[in-house]
Amino acid sequence: MNIVLFGPPGAGKGTQAKELAKHYNIPHISTGDILRANVREGTKLGMQAKEFMDKGELVPDEVLIGIIRDRVKESDCKDGYMLDGYPRTIPQAEALKDILEKINKPLDVVLNIDVPDDDLIGRLSGRRMCSCGDSYHLMFNLPLKEGTCDSCGGKLYQRDDDKEEVVRQRLEVYAAKTKPLINYYEDIGLLVNIDGTGSVEDVFKQICDVLDSYK
Ligand code: AP5
Ligand code: ZN
Repeated sequence: MNIVLFGPPGAGKGTQAKELAKHYNIPHISTGDILRANVREGTKLGMQAKEFMDKGELVPDEVLIGIIRDRVKESDCKDGYMLDGYPRTIPQAEALKDILEKINKPLDVVLNIDVPDDDLIGRLSGRRMCSCGDSYHLMFNLPLKEGTCDSCGGKLYQRDDDKEEVVRQRLEVYAAKTKPLINYYEDIGLLVNIDGTGSVEDVFKQICDVLDSYK
């Protein structure tokens, strides 16, 4: 199954994608994670991307299109993939369509995880991350031991772009540049809305019910 997991910052895309990728045995491709790994490693791409990410702005389309073009051609995507955080603009969606047509792996579904803005601010400001990719929350998703990752024992930290003023900017950028993709995918019949306000388990179950109906 070829899936896009769509939704505003903090909707729970990363949390769900991690579990879904295990459950359906397909790779989780997060452009945010790819960019953050480049920032950590100090690559040229990372240095370029950091400037935009720290301000809550989008990294330029041509950079992201190049990343995705290479990634979906890798052999682990042959039985499906789950995109998280891409596409985020109409040009990114158009480019994706062309890339996937050429390799004959078109999208099956775009899952739009819907969560109101007030909840998003709370989710993002309480999020704590581990460098292994795990994500926790000070209220909704506590690690077993305070400040420590359950999976790898790493020290949890707050993402630079989860500070309140950057969160607000990310939500504005989402509304202006990314939200129009809801109509774009609705018009071509790929969009399915998911109520993202329930617990992590509730949302997971809703998504599985949708994906199982595509099998
Ligand atoms: P990216 O990393 O993609 O950030 P994002 O889309 O803003 O998404 P988040 O990771 O913030 O949220 P999420 O939906 O994954 O939520 P999560 O599961 O963590 O991008 C970062 C930056 O990179 C962008 O701003 C941009 O600069 C750049 N970038 C990336 N892709 C790009 C692209 N395609 N084009 C251009 N630039 C790009 O959950 C959030 C919190 O809520 C967690 O603490 C979690 O524990 C908690 N939570 C999750 N589910 C629930 C629930 N059901 N109930 C209660 N709490 C929950
Ligand atoms: Zn960890």
